Amino acid sequence: MRNEIVNLLKKENKLSDNTIDELKNINIDDFSNIVKEIGKEETTYIKADEISKDLQTEYIGKDLYIFNEVSSTNTLAKFLSMNGAENGTVIISEKQTKAKGRSGKSWESPLGGVWLSIIINPIVDYSKLPLITLATGVAVAKTMERIGVENSEIKWPNDIMINGKKVCGILTEAVTKFNTIESVIIGVGIDANLNVTDFPEELQEGTTTLKEELKKEGNENLLIKIFLEEFEKINELFIAKEYEAILKEWRKRSYSIGKIVEVREPFNTYYDAYVLGISKEGALIVEKIDGTLEKVISGECIIKN
Ligand code: BTN
Repeated sequence: MRNEIVNLLKKENKLSDNTIDELKNINIDDFSNIVKEIGKEETTYIKADEISKDLQTEYIGKDLYIFNEVSSTNTLAKFLSMNGAENGTVIISEKQTKAKGRSGKSWESPLGGVWLSIIINPIVDYSKLPLITLATGVAVAKTMERIGVENSEIKWPNDIMINGKKVCGILTEAVTKFNTIESVIIGVGIDANLNVTDFPEELQEGTTTLKEELKKEGNENLLIKIFLEEFEKINELFIAKEYEAILKEWRKRSYSIGKIVEVREPFNTYYDAYVLGISKEGALIVEKIDGTLEKVISGECIIKN
């Protein structure tokens, strides 16, 4: 982690090679303060004042750190959360060089997208983590609706789709101490002001962007502001244990229910199944070819029809 932060500081011209040795001795609080200071400096087009103006939230995004370029906002969020970041802190970067996707995959994050991570501090149970991810998917879908995308859908567990193509991915990670969750990092990547041709060829077929769907460039700062508002609203439902209300919103927008999928569970168990719904824990309920029912807790579902 220290190396990643040092690289960030190097990138931002915050240190010369001969000060790197000094950093080995710097105390971790000072270290995270340096990171926070950089996160308050001027960036190119993602602007804290535009996001914060009229932001209708109590705690999400009240602490906002924005960078030109980082390896991964999730990595930085983890570092800050381990060093006292407040509940609701948001880390945004205009570009990521080593962004993380689900299942150990990488995530393309060129300039023009919205790449952010939210730190949620209250201690939650492991069994509730899938629900936070589903809730975030609902917040993204509602954000899309507020900016004029009528037909966004959620592909289990957390891909936001428009017309069958992925426009956003969500990666939830837990920060643990002695086997309990100290905080949750919710990473969201939205392909906003990008063209499909900005992505590697192998991703282009299954990808779309807001710019292409809305046929115009949008305002990233407004998009982030709306998302933070929607996220806080759904997080409040989560805190109030109104899980059924979250699932109801999710089901309304489901891309997966009613489809035949190839289920790919961890450790390479693959099988075809029909998607019946989602359970109250956020697992996908499927019917296998032989008629047996399964709950898919983690993994991927490739749509076949
Ligand atoms: C997926 O594979 O669908 C999840 C992609 C999550 C990408 C976001 S971008 C912001 C945050 N930082 C990361 O390194 N990953 C997440």
